Amino acid sequence: MQIGSIALDNRLFVAPMAGVTDRPFRMLCRRLGAGYAVSEMVTSRKELWGSLKTSRRANHEGEPGPIAVQIAGTDAAMMAEAAQYNIDRGAQIIDINMGCPAKKVCNKWAGSALMRDEPLALEIAQAVVEAAAPHGVPVTLKMRTGWSHDHRNAVKLARDFEAAGVQMLTVHGRTREQGYKGHAEYDTISAVKAAVRVPVVANGDVTSPEKARDVLAATGADAVMVGRAAQGRPWIFREIGHFLATGEHMAPPLVAEVRRLLLDHLHEHYALYGDYSGVRTARKHIGWYVRALPGGEAFRDAMNRIEDCKAQWEAVAAFFDALGERMERLPVQADTAADESREDDNNDGELEEHCSSAA
Ligand SMILES: Cc1cc2nc3c(=O)[nH]c(=O)nc-3n(C[C@H](O)[C@H](O)[C@H](O)COP(=O)(O)O)c2cc1C
Repeated sequence: MQIGSIALDNRLFVAPMAGVTDRPFRMLCRRLGAGYAVSEMVTSRKELWGSLKTSRRANHEGEPGPIAVQIAGTDAAMMAEAAQYNIDRGAQIIDINMGCPAKKVCNKWAGSALMRDEPLALEIAQAVVEAAAPHGVPVTLKMRTGWSHDHRNAVKLARDFEAAGVQMLTVHGRTREQGYKGHAEYDTISAVKAAVRVPVVANGDVTSPEKARDVLAATGADAVMVGRAAQGRPWIFREIGHFLATGEHMAPPLVAEVRRLLLDHLHEHYALYGDYSGVRTARKHIGWYVRALPGGEAFRDAMNRIEDCKAQWEAVAAFFDALGERMERLPVQADTAADESREDDNNDGELEEHCSSAA
């Protein structure tokens, strides 16, 4: 699997998720079998580039290549400048966000709302390709199937983007109108794949090794991208990889391994965010790791009241020590089916906040 001239390790991608796929989480997913990880989106608004949030997002220290940065915005010249800015800071691939459903962004015509304005969407793609081409940096783009059920224009746009020089297209199998409701559909992704020659990545509701196999088969896509199902389960990538290679399921991870992975994750998380933000932003990750485990819900409630990184880290260690005395491996994880509860966790309000702050 290649993006332009850049070879990837495999065809299992972790989806960009603002507020989730920061550098520590991306690196963890890569370690656990994801072949590719795109950064959370970076705004094209220059005045925000100096902000703590954007500078954290533009920090790729120690990250394995290729470094892929997603940019979001509504103005072609500003998006071209954002591409240049991130290339100067080490981006080897630039991804354009036309997938975010949040309302505030859409009021400003960013994210998936751009799919409704085809000339502007194309102008942005052309400007970003033009800015990146002299550096040999490929441009990719992530979109939805269309604006609404009756306006599914992903195929038309895919052809236009390819003609503009975009080198890979990711399609989330929902319309902008759907937000995260309903189910992803794969026929449109399949039609996009049939319409273009650049690699196509299928995304939406891939929650298990079987689902990954089925979506790859149904769409003919070159790669599959996993978002919500990787929250608190970054080892899903090696599970999918193993299943695709052998047709067999891996045993669930050892409790001792998950303990170590999560404690390492927290260590990196605190280092990136500092004590005050670190302890707060780590809560959602910890909650995702423990939610399906015995005693997980009660632990999550108790942990949400801890205000100190060291105490939080120690509480997590103690939780897994106690769990390790009861079982050697995690319980077999049911297909979380992009489960409804995860949808609650990622409600539109949260997304709106993430997306609007980036656009
Ligand atoms: C919390 C959250 C944040 C997201 N942020 C972004 C983003 O910054 N850029 C983007 O293109 N998509 C974003 N998405 C969409 C995901 O990349 C993905 O397309 C979507 O979650 C569907 O895949 P899934 O069913 O595997 O989760 C976000 C999704 C979630 C849940």
